[in-house]
Amino acid sequence: MKYFIVTYGCQMNVHESEKIAGILENMGYSEAEKREQADIIVFNTCAIREGAEDRVFGNVGNLKKMKKRNKDLIIAVCGCMTQKEQTAQKLLSTFPFVDIVIGTFNLPQLGAYIEAVKKGRQLDVWQEGDIDETLPYKRTSGENAWVNIMQGCNNFCTYCIVPYVRGREKSRSMENILNEIKQIIGEKKYKKITLLGQNVNSYGNDLTDGSNFAGLLREICKLEGDFKVSFMTSHPKDLTDEVIEVVASEDKIEKYIHLPAQSGNDRVLKLMNRKYTREKYLSIIEKIRAKIPDCRITSDFIVGFPTETEEEFEDTYSLVKQVRFDSIFAFMYSPREGTVASKMEDQIPDEIKHSRVNKLLALEKKIQKEDGKR
Ligand code: SAH
Ligand code: SF4
Ligand code: F3S
Repeated sequence: MKYFIVTYGCQMNVHESEKIAGILENMGYSEAEKREQADIIVFNTCAIREGAEDRVFGNVGNLKKMKKRNKDLIIAVCGCMTQKEQTAQKLLSTFPFVDIVIGTFNLPQLGAYIEAVKKGRQLDVWQEGDIDETLPYKRTSGENAWVNIMQGCNNFCTYCIVPYVRGREKSRSMENILNEIKQIIGEKKYKKITLLGQNVNSYGNDLTDGSNFAGLLREICKLEGDFKVSFMTSHPKDLTDEVIEVVASEDKIEKYIHLPAQSGNDRVLKLMNRKYTREKYLSIIEKIRAKIPDCRITSDFIVGFPTETEEEFEDTYSLVKQVRFDSIFAFMYSPREGTVASKMEDQIPDEIKHSRVNKLLALEKKIQKEDGKR
């Protein structure tokens, strides 16, 4: 019996697919090289922008023929899209041949659902649940081992769907994280450990034992072994001086910080509910560069947020010009149903979003050429 997993979205989803692979291998499945050879195909989806969802609808639709040829083929859809009830319903009604639609909190039950499907059931389950510490991972990212340190997000940036599909922040205990990392080091296959969370800097806020992200980093660096630690993502409002100090002083920590700015304009940042100003953001960059001169810094930007004027976009442009990031991602704002921003008046037309994103990417290209960066 063979499985094939198709993954969309962020590193956390990539890592979650390693968990899905672990579950399936525990059930006796092995990995198929091509989806045509698979007995079960799992789509691990992303809901961050409309484009990501459209790709899933297209690719799941393409399986109709395969399912016709092979009635026993099991098709499962999980991940962030399925956690939105309307989207999950739409998936089920558009694609009656999909066997399992499973929410982001219900992965631990995937095995049971597969068994049930063999008896002819189609399931859709969305209850919120805790982090399962018992599921095995099949690590697939070469020398890098992903380690989840928390799930969910409490920030509710007004454009973002993540808090709705991933629930509130839940940190894993330091003990569980350290045990997982010890095991990874013990396997001697991995040179790099990347800590994952939507906002790693708020690690521990929901725990009662006083743990925080800087403390976690220090404990990890005390572990013996030849490995480097990296982390993502950092929210500028929560990146503490203490974390900057730890990154500066610990040899084991990679000198790299991904620090999404989203916009360079204060009015837009406020509307986005990012809770920092352009000036504050720039002061953090200065601090990082003063303490860690060789630190690589990258960022994310959204252009065409509702009501964004040309002048306000120019502030984003000038921020990128001023900071000269090692690289940036620039996204056209995509309205997500249920978020505050999707209900705002004065949504920006697509042509303007296109032209702004192209301007920003052209600047990014120019800077990279001038600075000789990757
Ligand atoms: N937790 C991370 C971001 C996760 S989403 C953080 O807060 O930095 C990754 C990126 O997708 C975001 O940084 C943002 O730039 C982009 N993004 C999120 N929602 C979006 C939307 N509705 N439209 C366009 N881009 C979006
Ligand atoms: Fe989304 Fe903001 Fe949370 Fe990042 S911090 S996941 S952008 S709500
Ligand atoms: Fe996408 Fe979910 Fe990640 S919406 S970006 S896969 S947390």
